Amino acid sequence: MKTIGYGKANGKIILMGEHAVVYGEPAIAFPFLATKITATIQSCDSFLLHCSYYKGSLEDAPETLNSIKVLINHLQTEYATGPLLATIESTIPAERGMGSSAAVAVALTRAFFDFIDQPLAQETLLSYVEQSERIAHGNPSGIDAAATSGQDPIYFTKGHPFNFFPLNIDAFLVVADTGVKGQTRAAVKDVANLVSSNDGQEIMRHIHLLGALSKEAKEAISENQVQRLADIMNEAQQHLTKLTVSNQLLDQLIQTALATGALGAKLTGGGRGGCMIALTKTKKEAQVVSQALEKQGAVATWIQGLGVHTYA
Ligand code: MEV
Repeated sequence: MKTIGYGKANGKIILMGEHAVVYGEPAIAFPFLATKITATIQSCDSFLLHCSYYKGSLEDAPETLNSIKVLINHLQTEYATGPLLATIESTIPAERGMGSSAAVAVALTRAFFDFIDQPLAQETLLSYVEQSERIAHGNPSGIDAAATSGQDPIYFTKGHPFNFFPLNIDAFLVVADTGVKGQTRAAVKDVANLVSSNDGQEIMRHIHLLGALSKEAKEAISENQVQRLADIMNEAQQHLTKLTVSNQLLDQLIQTALATGALGAKLTGGGRGGCMIALTKTKKEAQVVSQALEKQGAVATWIQGLGVHTYA
């Protein structure tokens, strides 16, 4: 065992296919390297958790940290390490559709295996993260775990081997945080309720169409068709609205982005708050859109280049 174990993960952005991915449709996501989590694990006299909004005993941690609590308990019972201090430092805004819960689980599991000085296979990592995500999200597709633990964009279909692909297109993405906590768990559950309601068939139609749009988006990206990708994003937002996962705040920011030069815009992640994304052709246009979004109430914005020379 080492004195201290370190683990890292990053945030993620879903470009296309959120919610539909839970139903076996493909989705496109990429690691959002502008946001990161670092975790450490070390021996201690009792079980303690230190993060930005809680410092204290693991047992008394608030319910919102249940997925972390269960993960640490699970790992230490399996490997009989004795009491541990887990620390988490994060620049990923929590509950904003950037995969913070999966990223915490990835970073903690990596820190734990570093601490016990054992190799960690990707499959083992993903299985611990999935158990933790079941508590945080209810019914996770696994896309958040895949994108927060990797370095490459991914075309993801639940239960299939990962398909990494270069997200190289001459365009820029503006990511804007509404400042309002998203409700992924509730949104995923509400979509499931809609699927089993009298409108189930119509809801499934939107879900399949979202899957078809992910396929088209992959094609548009490989052929460097910016306007086509933007149109696909706009269409996806309409289907996501039908799934009831957008809200007024997201709609307003999407409208602002489109009115100030974005070619396409949609929510990203679980929705009902959280973040939205907007596509522009140039960096200058991205800056104009991002300023307009901040003026309209976005609490933070990021600009991500997607081109061959700008993706980083
Ligand atoms: C959450 O980031 C993405 C969802 O599709 C849920 C999931 O795939 O687990 C809404």
